Amino acid sequence: MWTATACGYRPGLSSGRSAMARILITSALPYINGIKHLGNLVGSMLPADVYARFKRQQGHEVLYICATDEHGTPAELAARAAGQDIADYCREQHDIQKKAGAEFGLSFNHFGRSSNPPNHRLTQHFAHVLEQNGLIEERTDKQVYSIDDERFLPDRYVEGTCPHCAYEKARGDQCDNCGRLLDPVDLIDPYSAISGSKNVEVRETKHLHLLQARMQDRIAEWINSKPDWPQLTKSIAQKWLKEGLRDRSITRDLKWGIPVAYKGEVRPGFENKVFYVWFDAPIEYIAATEEWAIVNDKGDEWERWWRTDKGADDVTYVEFMGKDNVAFHTVSFPATILGSEEPWKLVDTLKSLNWLTWYGGKFSTSQNRGIFMDQALELLPADYWRWHLMANAPESDDASFTLEHFASVVNKDLADVLGNFVNRITRFCKARFGEEVPSEGAYGEAEAALEKELDAKIKSYTDNLELMEFRKAFVDLRAIWVAGNEYLQVAAPWTVIKEDKERAAASVRCALNLIALFAALSRPVIPFTADKMFAIFGLDPTEAGRWPSS
Ligand code: MF3
Ligand code: ZN
Repeated sequence: MWTATACGYRPGLSSGRSAMARILITSALPYINGIKHLGNLVGSMLPADVYARFKRQQGHEVLYICATDEHGTPAELAARAAGQDIADYCREQHDIQKKAGAEFGLSFNHFGRSSNPPNHRLTQHFAHVLEQNGLIEERTDKQVYSIDDERFLPDRYVEGTCPHCAYEKARGDQCDNCGRLLDPVDLIDPYSAISGSKNVEVRETKHLHLLQARMQDRIAEWINSKPDWPQLTKSIAQKWLKEGLRDRSITRDLKWGIPVAYKGEVRPGFENKVFYVWFDAPIEYIAATEEWAIVNDKGDEWERWWRTDKGADDVTYVEFMGKDNVAFHTVSFPATILGSEEPWKLVDTLKSLNWLTWYGGKFSTSQNRGIFMDQALELLPADYWRWHLMANAPESDDASFTLEHFASVVNKDLADVLGNFVNRITRFCKARFGEEVPSEGAYGEAEAALEKELDAKIKSYTDNLELMEFRKAFVDLRAIWVAGNEYLQVAAPWTVIKEDKERAAASVRCALNLIALFAALSRPVIPFTADKMFAIFGLDPTEAGRWPSS
């Protein structure tokens, strides 16, 4: 271990704190049906984690909440395919996803489950108040019914030919080929995804409908009051507004899910129905915060984050999600919140991402195509993936993942630029000065120039992280590492030491201190590496990792 006697070189920067804020962060809840691929990871959880870490390092009070999304036909179908009881399946898969998240360094304050009791209670509560406010109605719907399976076939339980593009394996809720959202009864030649039986017919059944059309003006007013949302989010939200909000059914004929009940009483006629997964899933953001409070013995402290009458007015709430989720987060969930007429916290800003593709095609869980979180970690450490994914995040457009590009980026940025800098200077110092930061010599012109350069770069980097412009931010971070290498190149302590040992000592000291600075700046994205860099000097990452502010 090195003794950092003269550490503390912070070019032009004090590690001062800006005013403490409270920041609530959620990332789209990953479906329970199997471990997530790199596309899912970079689409919401990883950028949310980077942002959460950045905000914590700035000294803010951050609560980062996520959970598994455990209801709906994807969950039931996956359990069936695995030959498992659905509750057992979900429990196991939750643990697997939780473990993979931890190994990837995802710093959730809590990783909950949408099937847990708080979500049952809250979902039933919201449905109740929405109905009281005249926003829920029972209506008779047409649904596909399988005579052989003796059940209705909602959403993905029915497949058939797409009425738009004639693709033959379209799923009831969406066509994988043309991407259109479908109503199962519109499929041509429908068949049961459970048994394959074509012995199906359309039957009438009752469902609860959320009357979103009535909320058009309110939602529009709210969305239009958010001119600062990132561009992708705004354009998708506007597209949905223009199409007009439609009423949508919020119940399904399924067994697994949240019962259509209130205070323990099942709604008559809804004995075999549950709430639709997209109704209960976003409510789990709130419920998972309640889970966090339960697990951590914090009583009703979750309300400080979610109830504007209990202090949540001070909270800034940021959501992260893939672009297919934007409508649910800008229209449907806000309709639930606003329609309740209760003082719940609404999202302040939403960061949405495009798709990461696997060699230009789709990552696919059902077809096992791409790299999945567990496989990735068997191949290489988390930080390699984190760096590559964030530096190439699908922000302005879809981005293609290839192993060749991954290898070249990681080799160049992490090995040649950052790794090389750390190795070169620590090795040289050890050989010539021992395992201690040399204290002789004074900083001169080279250090002043470096300080100025880093000042500007750190400002740009910080600004881009604030804006959640991750690609740009990590171009900045890489440039900061490069500036370190260039400084060493110019200062050349290995040559200078022959004539002027003090001068060499000063530049070694400066470079060693850059390691600590780089560790702090890199920690949001490569936390494991950053902590190793701090460990060289025996520095405590929480202390030393405070964000430099100019
Ligand atoms: N499970 C959904 C998906 O992966 C996301 C749910 S986000 C929430 O697309 F808002 F519903 F929580
Ligand atoms: Zn289609």
